[in-house]
Amino acid sequence: MIPLAVGTTVEGPERPAVIDGSRLNRHTFWCGQSGSGKTYALGVVLEQLLLQTELPVGVLDPNADFAELGRTRDEVGAEEAARWADLDIRVLHSSTVRDPQLHIRFVDLSVSSKAAVGRLDPIEDSEEYNALLHLRLGPDRFERDRFLAALVGSDDPAQRRLGLRIDNLQILDWPLWAMGATSVTDALDERPRAIVLDVGGFSHPGEPQAAALGVLEHLWERRMERRPLLIVIDEAHNFCPPIPRSSVEAKLTELLIQIAAEGRKFGLWLFLSTQRPTKIHPNVLSQCDNLGLMRMNSPRDLAELADVFGFVPRHLLEQSPGFRKGEALFAGAFTEEPQLVRMGRRLTVEGGSDLAVAARAS
Ligand SMILES: Nc1ncnc2c1ncn2[C@@H]1O[C@H](COP(=O)(O)OP(=O)(O)O)[C@@H](O)[C@H]1O
Ligand SMILES: [Mg+2]
Repeated sequence: MIPLAVGTTVEGPERPAVIDGSRLNRHTFWCGQSGSGKTYALGVVLEQLLLQTELPVGVLDPNADFAELGRTRDEVGAEEAARWADLDIRVLHSSTVRDPQLHIRFVDLSVSSKAAVGRLDPIEDSEEYNALLHLRLGPDRFERDRFLAALVGSDDPAQRRLGLRIDNLQILDWPLWAMGATSVTDALDERPRAIVLDVGGFSHPGEPQAAALGVLEHLWERRMERRPLLIVIDEAHNFCPPIPRSSVEAKLTELLIQIAAEGRKFGLWLFLSTQRPTKIHPNVLSQCDNLGLMRMNSPRDLAELADVFGFVPRHLLEQSPGFRKGEALFAGAFTEEPQLVRMGRRLTVEGGSDLAVAARAS
Protein backbone atom coordinates (compact mmCIF):
# COMPACT_ATOMS: atom_id res chain seq x y z
CA MET A 1 0.00 0.00 0.00
CA ILE A 2 1.29 3.47 -0.92
CA PRO A 3 -1.03 5.91 0.84
CA LEU A 4 -1.93 9.01 -1.15
CA ALA A 5 -3.62 11.68 0.97
CA VAL A 6 -6.17 13.14 -1.40
CA GLY A 7 -8.42 15.02 1.01
CA THR A 8 -10.74 14.30 3.91
CA THR A 9 -13.69 12.01 4.27
CA VAL A 10 -17.10 13.56 3.79
CA GLU A 11 -18.45 12.05 7.04
CA GLY A 12 -15.51 13.16 9.15
CA PRO A 13 -13.92 16.37 7.87
CA GLU A 14 -11.02 15.84 10.31
CA ARG A 15 -10.31 12.34 8.96
CA PRO A 16 -7.82 12.14 6.07
CA ALA A 17 -9.00 10.28 3.00
CA VAL A 18 -6.40 7.99 1.52
CA ILE A 19 -6.23 6.01 -1.68
CA ASP A 20 -3.66 3.37 -2.56
CA GLY A 21 -1.16 4.68 -5.11
CA SER A 22 0.21 1.17 -5.68
CA ARG A 23 -3.14 0.24 -7.22
CA LEU A 24 -2.89 2.70 -10.04
CA ASN A 25 -1.26 -0.22 -11.84
CA ARG A 26 -4.56 -0.82 -13.54
CA HIS A 27 -7.03 1.34 -15.39
CA THR A 28 -8.98 4.11 -13.72
CA PHE A 29 -12.19 5.79 -14.81
CA TRP A 30 -12.88 9.32 -13.64
CA CYS A 31 -16.21 10.89 -14.33
CA GLY A 32 -18.68 13.58 -13.41
CA GLN A 33 -20.55 16.33 -15.12
CA SER A 34 -18.88 19.41 -16.46
CA GLY A 35 -17.68 21.67 -13.65
CA SER A 36 -17.96 18.96 -10.99
CA GLY A 37 -14.23 19.17 -10.28
CA LYS A 38 -12.84 16.24 -12.27
CA THR A 39 -9.77 17.99 -13.55
CA TYR A 40 -9.00 19.59 -10.19
CA ALA A 41 -9.37 16.24 -8.41
CA LEU A 42 -7.27 14.54 -11.06
CA GLY A 43 -4.59 17.12 -10.34
CA VAL A 44 -4.71 16.38 -6.60
CA VAL A 45 -4.23 12.66 -7.25
CA LEU A 46 -1.42 13.20 -9.75
CA GLU A 47 0.42 15.54 -7.40
CA GLN A 48 0.35 12.98 -4.59
CA LEU A 49 1.31 10.24 -6.99
CA LEU A 50 4.32 12.25 -8.14
CA LEU A 51 5.37 13.00 -4.57
CA GLN A 52 4.80 9.56 -3.05
CA THR A 53 5.69 7.11 -5.82
CA GLU A 54 8.19 6.66 -8.63
CA LEU A 55 5.56 6.07 -11.28
CA PRO A 56 6.05 8.19 -14.41
CA VAL A 57 2.98 9.97 -15.66
CA GLY A 58 2.05 11.16 -19.15
CA VAL A 59 -0.91 13.52 -19.48
CA LEU A 60 -2.89 14.18 -22.64
CA ASP A 61 -4.29 17.55 -21.75
CA PRO A 62 -6.77 19.00 -24.26
CA ASN A 63 -7.54 22.15 -22.24
CA ALA A 64 -4.04 23.10 -21.08
CA ASP A 65 -5.28 22.45 -17.53
CA PHE A 66 -1.92 20.98 -16.53
CA ALA A 67 0.27 23.41 -18.41
CA GLU A 68 1.50 24.82 -15.07
CA LEU A 69 2.08 21.47 -13.38
CA GLY A 70 5.70 22.40 -12.82
CA ARG A 71 4.81 25.47 -10.71
CA THR A 72 3.69 25.27 -7.09
CA ARG A 73 1.21 27.75 -5.63
CA ASP A 74 2.47 30.59 -3.47
CA GLU A 75 0.87 29.17 -0.32
CA VAL A 76 2.74 25.85 -0.62
CA GLY A 77 5.40 25.44 2.08
CA ALA A 78 9.07 25.82 1.22
CA GLU A 79 9.91 22.18 1.89
CA GLU A 80 7.17 20.83 -0.32
CA ALA A 81 7.95 23.39 -3.01
CA ALA A 82 11.58 22.28 -2.95
CA ARG A 83 10.62 18.63 -3.28
CA TRP A 84 8.40 19.57 -6.17
CA ALA A 85 11.15 21.52 -7.87
CA ASP A 86 13.30 18.36 -7.80
CA LEU A 87 10.81 16.42 -9.90
CA ASP A 88 11.47 16.21 -13.62
CA ILE A 89 8.21 17.67 -14.95
CA ARG A 90 8.03 18.63 -18.60
CA VAL A 91 5.26 20.44 -20.40
CA LEU A 92 5.10 20.46 -24.18
CA HIS A 93 2.87 23.05 -25.81
CA SER A 94 0.80 23.05 -28.96
CA SER A 95 0.37 26.76 -29.19
CA THR A 96 3.07 28.19 -31.41
CA VAL A 97 3.74 31.01 -28.96
CA ARG A 98 4.99 28.83 -26.13
CA ASP A 99 8.09 26.65 -25.93
CA PRO A 100 8.99 23.86 -25.80
CA GLN A 101 6.63 22.68 -28.48
CA LEU A 102 4.95 19.37 -28.98
CA HIS A 103 5.96 17.62 -32.18
CA ILE A 104 5.50 14.21 -33.74
CA ARG A 105 7.50 12.83 -36.66
CA PHE A 106 5.07 11.99 -39.46
CA VAL A 107 7.51 9.38 -40.75
CA ASP A 108 7.41 7.58 -37.39
CA LEU A 109 3.70 6.82 -37.71
CA SER A 110 2.79 3.34 -38.85
CA VAL A 111 1.52 3.03 -42.42
CA SER A 112 -2.02 2.53 -41.21
CA SER A 113 -1.80 5.65 -39.04
CA LYS A 114 -0.33 7.71 -41.86
CA ALA A 115 -3.18 6.43 -44.00
CA ALA A 116 -5.71 7.35 -41.32
CA VAL A 117 -4.34 10.88 -41.17
CA GLY A 118 -4.70 11.03 -44.98
CA ARG A 119 -8.19 9.48 -44.73
CA LEU A 120 -7.10 6.58 -46.91
CA ASP A 121 -8.90 3.28 -46.83
CA PRO A 122 -6.85 0.19 -47.76
CA ILE A 123 -9.70 -1.22 -49.85
CA GLU A 124 -11.55 1.78 -51.22
CA ASP A 125 -8.36 3.67 -51.99
CA SER A 126 -6.29 0.61 -52.74
CA GLU A 127 -3.86 2.21 -55.21
CA GLU A 128 -3.04 5.28 -53.16
CA TYR A 129 -2.79 3.19 -50.00
CA ASN A 130 -0.43 0.85 -51.78
CA ALA A 131 1.70 3.77 -52.97
CA LEU A 132 1.91 4.94 -49.37
CA LEU A 133 2.76 1.44 -48.19
CA HIS A 134 5.77 1.28 -50.50
CA LEU A 135 7.03 4.83 -50.08
CA ARG A 136 10.60 5.07 -48.89
CA LEU A 137 10.63 7.51 -45.99
CA GLY A 138 13.84 7.90 -44.03
CA PRO A 139 13.49 9.92 -40.82
CA ASP A 140 16.53 12.00 -41.78
CA ARG A 141 15.41 12.85 -45.28
CA PHE A 142 11.96 14.21 -44.70
CA GLU A 143 11.40 17.65 -46.10
CA ARG A 144 7.92 18.84 -47.00
CA ASP A 145 8.33 20.53 -50.39
CA ARG A 146 10.76 18.01 -51.78
CA PHE A 147 8.56 15.18 -50.60
CA LEU A 148 5.43 16.60 -52.23
CA ALA A 149 7.20 17.56 -55.44
CA ALA A 150 8.59 14.04 -55.77
CA LEU A 151 5.16 12.52 -55.32
CA VAL A 152 3.26 14.89 -57.58
CA GLY A 153 5.94 14.61 -60.27
CA SER A 154 6.16 10.82 -60.07
CA ASP A 155 5.72 8.50 -63.09
CA ASP A 156 3.41 6.39 -61.03
CA PRO A 157 -0.19 7.68 -61.19
CA ALA A 158 -0.97 6.28 -57.74
CA GLN A 159 1.93 8.23 -56.25
CA ARG A 160 0.74 11.34 -58.04
CA ARG A 161 -2.74 10.94 -56.60
CA LEU A 162 -1.29 10.33 -53.16
CA GLY A 163 0.76 13.51 -53.48
CA LEU A 164 -2.27 15.54 -54.52
CA ARG A 165 -4.29 14.13 -51.67
CA ILE A 166 -1.66 15.05 -49.09
CA ASP A 167 -1.25 18.48 -50.64
CA ASN A 168 -5.01 19.09 -50.83
CA LEU A 169 -5.65 18.04 -47.25
CA GLN A 170 -2.77 20.35 -46.22
CA ILE A 171 -1.76 17.77 -43.65
CA LEU A 172 1.91 18.56 -43.91
CA ASP A 173 1.24 22.16 -42.91
CA TRP A 174 0.22 21.09 -39.41
CA PRO A 175 2.55 22.60 -36.80
CA LEU A 176 2.34 19.20 -35.10
CA TRP A 177 4.93 17.61 -37.37
CA ALA A 178 8.50 17.66 -36.19
CA MET A 179 10.09 18.35 -39.62
CA GLY A 180 13.56 17.92 -38.19
CA ALA A 181 12.76 19.07 -34.65
CA THR A 182 12.71 16.51 -31.85
CA SER A 183 9.62 14.41 -31.33
CA VAL A 184 7.66 14.12 -28.10
CA THR A 185 8.40 10.41 -28.24
CA ASP A 186 12.08 11.16 -27.59
CA ALA A 187 11.17 12.94 -24.35
CA LEU A 188 8.75 10.17 -23.48
CA ASP A 189 11.45 7.54 -23.88
CA GLU A 190 13.45 9.28 -21.20
CA ARG A 191 10.51 8.69 -18.85
CA PRO A 192 10.58 11.97 -16.93
CA ARG A 193 8.38 11.83 -13.85
CA ALA A 194 5.68 13.75 -15.65
CA ILE A 195 5.22 14.82 -19.20
CA VAL A 196 2.24 17.00 -20.03
CA LEU A 197 1.12 17.17 -23.63
CA ASP A 198 -0.91 20.32 -23.92
CA VAL A 199 -2.76 19.46 -27.12
CA GLY A 200 -5.40 22.18 -26.88
CA GLY A 201 -3.66 24.92 -28.80
CA PHE A 202 -3.50 23.36 -32.27
CA SER A 203 -5.46 25.10 -34.97
CA HIS A 204 -6.46 22.06 -37.00
CA PRO A 205 -8.99 19.82 -35.25
CA GLY A 206 -7.13 16.71 -36.45
CA GLU A 207 -3.91 17.57 -34.68
CA PRO A 208 -4.71 16.66 -31.05
CA GLN A 209 -5.83 13.22 -32.15
CA ALA A 210 -2.89 12.72 -34.47
CA ALA A 211 -0.61 13.70 -31.57
CA ALA A 212 -2.32 11.15 -29.34
CA LEU A 213 -2.06 8.54 -32.05
CA GLY A 214 1.66 9.13 -32.48
CA VAL A 215 2.31 8.90 -28.76
CA LEU A 216 0.12 5.89 -28.02
CA GLU A 217 1.33 3.99 -31.04
CA HIS A 218 4.93 4.59 -29.95
CA LEU A 219 4.19 3.35 -26.43
CA TRP A 220 2.41 0.31 -27.74
CA GLU A 221 5.16 -0.56 -30.21
CA ARG A 222 7.62 -0.53 -27.34
CA ARG A 223 5.41 -2.33 -24.85
CA MET A 224 7.85 -5.26 -24.56
CA GLU A 225 10.27 -2.94 -22.79
CA ARG A 226 7.79 -2.98 -19.92
CA ARG A 227 8.58 0.51 -18.73
CA PRO A 228 5.63 1.62 -16.63
CA LEU A 229 3.67 4.74 -17.49
CA LEU A 230 0.39 6.06 -16.22
CA ILE A 231 -1.35 7.41 -19.31
CA VAL A 232 -3.72 10.12 -18.19
CA ILE A 233 -6.30 11.31 -20.71
CA ASP A 234 -8.54 14.20 -19.75
CA GLU A 235 -11.64 14.67 -21.92
CA ALA A 236 -11.15 11.05 -22.97
CA HIS A 237 -14.30 11.07 -25.13
CA ASN A 238 -12.20 12.91 -27.73
CA PHE A 239 -9.85 9.96 -28.00
CA CYS A 240 -11.93 6.77 -27.66
CA PRO A 241 -15.61 7.47 -28.33
CA PRO A 242 -18.05 4.55 -28.74
CA ILE A 243 -18.57 5.44 -32.40
CA PRO A 244 -15.48 6.94 -34.04
CA ARG A 245 -16.19 9.84 -36.39
CA SER A 246 -13.02 9.77 -38.47
CA SER A 247 -10.32 7.38 -39.59
CA VAL A 248 -7.86 8.80 -37.03
CA GLU A 249 -10.43 8.49 -34.27
CA ALA A 250 -11.11 4.90 -35.31
CA LYS A 251 -7.39 4.08 -35.18
CA LEU A 252 -7.01 5.78 -31.81
CA THR A 253 -10.01 4.01 -30.35
CA GLU A 254 -8.71 0.67 -31.60
CA LEU A 255 -5.36 1.36 -29.93
CA LEU A 256 -6.95 2.41 -26.64
CA ILE A 257 -9.13 -0.70 -26.64
CA GLN A 258 -5.97 -2.74 -27.08
CA ILE A 259 -4.15 -0.91 -24.28
CA ALA A 260 -7.20 -1.25 -22.04
CA ALA A 261 -7.33 -4.98 -22.72
CA GLU A 262 -3.63 -5.86 -22.62
CA GLY A 263 -1.69 -2.84 -21.39
CA ARG A 264 -1.58 -3.84 -17.75
CA LYS A 265 0.96 -6.57 -18.20
CA PHE A 266 3.26 -4.14 -20.02
CA GLY A 267 2.94 -1.39 -17.44
CA LEU A 268 0.72 0.80 -19.58
CA TRP A 269 -2.07 1.97 -17.33
CA LEU A 270 -4.89 4.27 -18.33
CA PHE A 271 -6.47 7.02 -16.28
CA LEU A 272 -9.42 8.32 -18.27
CA SER A 273 -11.58 11.27 -17.39
CA THR A 274 -14.86 12.20 -19.05
CA GLN A 275 -18.36 13.46 -18.32
CA ARG A 276 -20.43 10.35 -18.87
CA PRO A 277 -19.70 6.63 -19.02
CA THR A 278 -21.41 6.30 -22.39
CA LYS A 279 -19.04 8.79 -23.97
CA ILE A 280 -16.15 6.38 -24.13
CA HIS A 281 -15.95 3.04 -25.87
CA PRO A 282 -17.56 0.25 -23.80
CA ASN A 283 -14.57 -2.05 -24.34
CA VAL A 284 -12.34 0.55 -22.72
CA LEU A 285 -14.74 1.35 -19.90
CA SER A 286 -15.27 -2.29 -18.99
CA GLN A 287 -11.52 -2.71 -18.34
CA CYS A 288 -11.39 -0.07 -15.61
CA ASP A 289 -10.92 -1.31 -12.04
CA ASN A 290 -10.86 2.02 -10.23
CA LEU A 291 -13.70 4.52 -10.23
CA GLY A 292 -13.62 8.15 -9.21
CA LEU A 293 -17.07 9.69 -9.49
CA MET A 294 -17.86 13.33 -9.01
CA ARG A 295 -21.30 14.93 -9.22
CA MET A 296 -23.47 13.32 -11.84
CA ASN A 297 -27.18 14.10 -12.14
CA SER A 298 -28.40 11.74 -14.80
CA PRO A 299 -30.05 8.58 -13.42
CA ARG A 300 -29.37 6.88 -16.72
CA ASP A 301 -25.62 7.49 -16.42
CA LEU A 302 -25.63 6.30 -12.82
CA ALA A 303 -27.44 3.14 -13.87
CA GLU A 304 -24.80 2.59 -16.53
CA LEU A 305 -22.05 3.00 -13.94
CA ALA A 306 -23.79 0.57 -11.61
CA ASP A 307 -23.88 -1.88 -14.48
CA VAL A 308 -20.23 -1.60 -15.43
CA PHE A 309 -18.81 -1.15 -11.92
CA GLY A 310 -20.66 -3.89 -10.09
CA PHE A 311 -18.38 -3.42 -7.08
CA VAL A 312 -19.80 0.02 -6.22
CA PRO A 313 -22.65 -0.02 -3.70
CA ARG A 314 -25.81 1.45 -5.21
CA HIS A 315 -26.59 3.64 -2.23
CA LEU A 316 -23.27 5.44 -2.68
CA LEU A 317 -23.73 5.91 -6.41
CA GLU A 318 -27.14 7.39 -5.73
CA GLN A 319 -25.59 10.13 -3.63
CA SER A 320 -23.70 11.52 -6.60
CA PRO A 321 -26.41 14.02 -7.71
CA GLY A 322 -26.04 15.65 -4.30
CA PHE A 323 -22.23 16.00 -4.38
CA ARG A 324 -20.83 19.48 -4.07
CA LYS A 325 -17.90 20.61 -6.18
CA GLY A 326 -14.81 18.76 -5.00
CA GLU A 327 -16.70 15.81 -3.55
CA ALA A 328 -16.11 12.40 -4.99
CA LEU A 329 -16.88 8.75 -4.56
CA PHE A 330 -13.86 6.47 -4.84
CA ALA A 331 -14.39 2.78 -5.33
CA GLY A 332 -12.47 -0.18 -6.68
CA ALA A 333 -8.97 -1.51 -6.31
CA PHE A 334 -7.35 1.73 -5.15
CA THR A 335 -9.50 2.07 -2.04
CA GLU A 336 -9.94 -0.58 0.61
CA GLU A 337 -13.59 0.36 1.02
CA PRO A 338 -15.62 2.64 -1.22
CA GLN A 339 -15.41 6.12 0.27
CA LEU A 340 -16.86 9.60 -0.10
CA VAL A 341 -14.12 12.17 -0.23
CA ARG A 342 -13.83 15.91 -0.09
CA MET A 343 -10.80 16.61 -2.26
CA GLY A 344 -7.83 18.42 -0.73
CA ARG A 345 -6.07 21.47 -2.16
CA ARG A 346 -3.96 21.51 -5.27
CA LEU A 347 -0.25 22.15 -4.80
CA THR A 348 0.37 23.38 -8.31
CA VAL A 349 -1.11 26.18 -10.33
CA GLU A 350 -4.19 25.35 -12.38
CA GLY A 351 -3.81 26.11 -16.06
CA GLY A 352 -6.80 26.11 -18.34
CA SER A 353 -7.87 28.40 -21.04
CA ASP A 354 -10.72 30.19 -19.27
CA LEU A 355 -9.94 33.84 -19.43
CA ALA A 356 -11.04 36.22 -16.72
CA VAL A 357 -13.34 39.04 -17.76
CA ALA A 358 -11.45 42.26 -17.33
CA ALA A 359 -13.33 45.14 -15.70
CA ARG A 360 -13.66 48.22 -17.83
CA ALA A 361 -11.50 51.07 -16.72
CA SER A 362 -13.65 54.04 -15.83
N1 LIG B 1 -11.84 20.72 -4.73
C1 LIG B 1 -11.85 21.95 -5.25
N2 LIG B 1 -11.42 23.01 -4.53
C2 LIG B 1 -11.41 24.25 -5.07
N3 LIG B 1 -11.79 24.53 -6.32
C3 LIG B 1 -12.23 23.53 -7.10
C4 LIG B 1 -12.26 22.19 -6.60
N4 LIG B 1 -12.73 21.40 -7.58
C5 LIG B 1 -12.96 22.20 -8.63
N5 LIG B 1 -12.67 23.47 -8.35
C6 LIG B 1 -12.80 24.60 -9.29
O1 LIG B 1 -14.02 24.48 -9.98
C7 LIG B 1 -13.86 24.73 -11.37
C8 LIG B 1 -14.30 23.51 -12.17
O2 LIG B 1 -13.48 22.42 -11.83
P1 LIG B 1 -12.88 21.43 -12.92
O3 LIG B 1 -11.99 20.51 -12.20
O4 LIG B 1 -12.31 22.20 -14.04
O5 LIG B 1 -14.21 20.68 -13.39
P2 LIG B 1 -14.40 19.60 -14.56
O6 LIG B 1 -13.06 19.15 -14.98
O7 LIG B 1 -15.22 18.52 -13.94
O8 LIG B 1 -15.17 20.31 -15.62
C9 LIG B 1 -12.40 25.08 -11.59
O9 LIG B 1 -12.30 26.49 -11.65
C10 LIG B 1 -11.72 24.57 -10.35
O10 LIG B 1 -10.66 25.41 -9.97
MG1 LIG C 1 -12.10 19.25 -16.83
